[in-house]
Amino acid sequence: MSSTRRSWCRRLGAALVVVPASGCELPDGTGIAYETWHDYPDADLPPELRLVQAAILAANPHNTQPWRFVVSPEVIELWQDTERDLGAMDPIGREQVIGLGCALENLATAAPGFGRSATIEPYPDPDAPQLTARVGLATTEPRARPLADTIARRHTQRGRYLDAPLSEHVEHALEELLVDLADVELVLLQSSSDRAAFRTGTIAATKAIVADREMNEASHRWWRQTESEIERERDGLTLMATVSGAATRAIGKLGKGPDAAKTGQYWIRNTEGPQTTASAFGALVTPALQDRSTLLTVGRAWQRIHLWIAAHGLCAQPLNQMFERRDRELARDLAPDFGPKLADLVGEHGQLGFRIGYAWDEFGPSPRRPVDWVVAT
Ligand SMILES: Cc1cc2nc3c(=O)[nH]c(=O)nc-3n(C[C@H](O)[C@H](O)[C@H](O)COP(=O)(O)O)c2cc1C
Repeated sequence: MSSTRRSWCRRLGAALVVVPASGCELPDGTGIAYETWHDYPDADLPPELRLVQAAILAANPHNTQPWRFVVSPEVIELWQDTERDLGAMDPIGREQVIGLGCALENLATAAPGFGRSATIEPYPDPDAPQLTARVGLATTEPRARPLADTIARRHTQRGRYLDAPLSEHVEHALEELLVDLADVELVLLQSSSDRAAFRTGTIAATKAIVADREMNEASHRWWRQTESEIERERDGLTLMATVSGAATRAIGKLGKGPDAAKTGQYWIRNTEGPQTTASAFGALVTPALQDRSTLLTVGRAWQRIHLWIAAHGLCAQPLNQMFERRDRELARDLAPDFGPKLADLVGEHGQLGFRIGYAWDEFGPSPRRPVDWVVAT
């Protein structure tokens, strides 16, 4: 621990009286749960395992990391780990498949840098529905690919964003980025009335999720509070990735953590506050709701957008409460509420919502399960 941090900890400890100095290790993204962020790309690993490292660092819903890899020098198979699901929060499995698409995009982006070209074959075996993609690796001359350098610097930013419009070129650049990804359309909401509608809808959907015990508990299942829990599981949502301010994080870490009801109330408060500040909200939209191959492409599109954003001094957070409520309405045959709202805002088959802006405060990385936990050779 640095001396500045140690003395800060002591001051905090003195103020709270109850803090033992040795228990005041702030979560700073440097423990074993964060090693992949720092090791990537690990030159001691063969290229195909460096590509798995890249895939592991992708965005994924609630940091569930729903993947397994079967690896050889010529082929990487990406398998869906259906046990690492979000239950009632993702009742039609939309987010899980999108997260797998994010992993594929990181893998494909990284490959040329390690002298490989990656050919992705989605769902290659009808008898093995969990085999999400087979990625063929051919040897090529190593060459840098734009955005590959950003893989270990991209994080979801959940703090306050500045109240500033996007630079004019951003929308065009993002559209250009997606031209080779069939069937995925980008919708950006930048006018103050559109942004207000997305914000209001997201807050209302958050309240609906928290009021729905099954959904709220499904979300809470992936909450990780203490350092030992984070190091044991290396997944899920943590204080460091979701809450502003070192002091709040440190105080939060002292207890065993809030129950689902409390976490739900914090979530509503954060959504009413910092998490709906944005230069733009947006969505990725497709022609149909549940075509798995297209959902993989949505994931590829989101990961690519997020890498571009991180490379250009912007930040982003997926915001899917309205989409999750729409899916819940469909799965449970509930009276449509957020479905029509969302259709009005972004079009009928919105798959992934988000906000983009300029960060007021920076958030740290989320833990990752390392290569040897997720690979079979
Ligand atoms: C399909 C999908 C949906 C997501 N939805 C949300 C969301 O509604 N709110 C949020 O804060 N983060 C959301 N995320 C971001 C993940 O929580 C985040 O990627 C994960 O915790 C790993 O953190 P990282 O992106 O910083 O690496 C979503 C990510 C994906 C791929």
